[in-house]
Amino acid sequence: MRPQAGLLLMGRYQLRSRIALGGMGEVWRAWDVDAERAVAAKVLRPELAGQEAFLARLRAEARNSAGLHHPNIAALLDYGEQDGSGFLVMELVDGEPMTALLERRGTLPAAELLPVLAQVARGLHAAHAAGVVHRDVKPSNILLPPGGPVKITDFGISLAAGQPALTAAGMVMGTAQYLSPEQATGRPATPLSDLYALGIVAYEALAGRRPFTGRTEVEIAVQHVDAPVPPLPDDVPAPVRDVVARLLAKHPALRPPSGEALARELDRLARPSHAPSCSVPSAASAPRPGTVRRRRDRTRRAMGAVGVGLATTIGAMAPGTVPSTPGIGTLALPEDSGAAGARETDRMTARDS
Ligand SMILES: Nc1ncnc2c1ncn2[C@@H]1O[C@H](COP(=O)(O)OP(=O)(O)O)[C@@H](O)[C@H]1O
Ligand SMILES: [Mg+2]
Repeated sequence: MRPQAGLLLMGRYQLRSRIALGGMGEVWRAWDVDAERAVAAKVLRPELAGQEAFLARLRAEARNSAGLHHPNIAALLDYGEQDGSGFLVMELVDGEPMTALLERRGTLPAAELLPVLAQVARGLHAAHAAGVVHRDVKPSNILLPPGGPVKITDFGISLAAGQPALTAAGMVMGTAQYLSPEQATGRPATPLSDLYALGIVAYEALAGRRPFTGRTEVEIAVQHVDAPVPPLPDDVPAPVRDVVARLLAKHPALRPPSGEALARELDRLARPSHAPSCSVPSAASAPRPGTVRRRRDRTRRAMGAVGVGLATTIGAMAPGTVPSTPGIGTLALPEDSGAAGARETDRMTARDS
């Protein structure tokens, strides 16, 4: 099934015009003939149709987002399969993704960014409360309708509690630039991993660049594990720098405890009356001398984990599948091979910080 204008899905949803080409799907503005309203339809990219692995992901996306009802999550309306392909029908969000805004503006002032982050945090909290970890929080999955509530989209690699892994054993999914240290060392993503990714989004919007870059995904992943976060520009208010620093804490226990707690803190910071003296000590302050060597050890172990994992996956993957698919930044890491060691030193570092 090749998505094109006029195509009628299940006799009900007529594709009108393409909105975006994502890693897994084409997103179309469509018309719901029965309900007589505009909707969005995410149809599996034609080159992925018939591939059971991608259909399974789309089904999981449908299943995981079906139970999520929150003003900050793009609502799922329907799911169907036709001619070996699958599609999701969603609430149509008339707005641009945050990537477009950042491309146009470069940076966002804190006053503008904080309410966006608070809304994303509330949407994530609703998902977390329902047992779903998004695992792909990044600007292209945050939609900004003018004047309307911010919407999180793309539960394509989300994970629900108790759900069987769709990823081959020992591999994790994510986008390298937004990957939490725990995922980069082969451990499972938790709600606090989504908050880490939101911290990267916040950093990127305030600084106009991501904290960690590199020539390869491995280089980037290693920095998430061990590199200190470069300071945010001085003109970012100190309490905002502080909350971003805590979101980007290497150890999950040092991050804000939940999306809701984070949202409340961001609301407080966004109030004009907020006094900078409300700042709390930063989790990203300079390391105490005794921690430096342990961090070096951790880097070596993480590099082992990431390097071996990537090599394994690329070797195991059929040509022309995931790596050639734009937008699916899939990092594959083994769950052991160094991760256990990293876990131990991680705990030591956490105690010291
Ligand atoms: N419900 C929606 N309404 C309007 N546009 C959407 C909607 N969902 C996604 N999009 C657009 O399509 C793009 C890709 O969608 P996404 O779900 O992220 O697909 P992929 O899994 O392929 O990355 C988004 O960045 C956004 O621009
Ligand atoms: Mg996406």
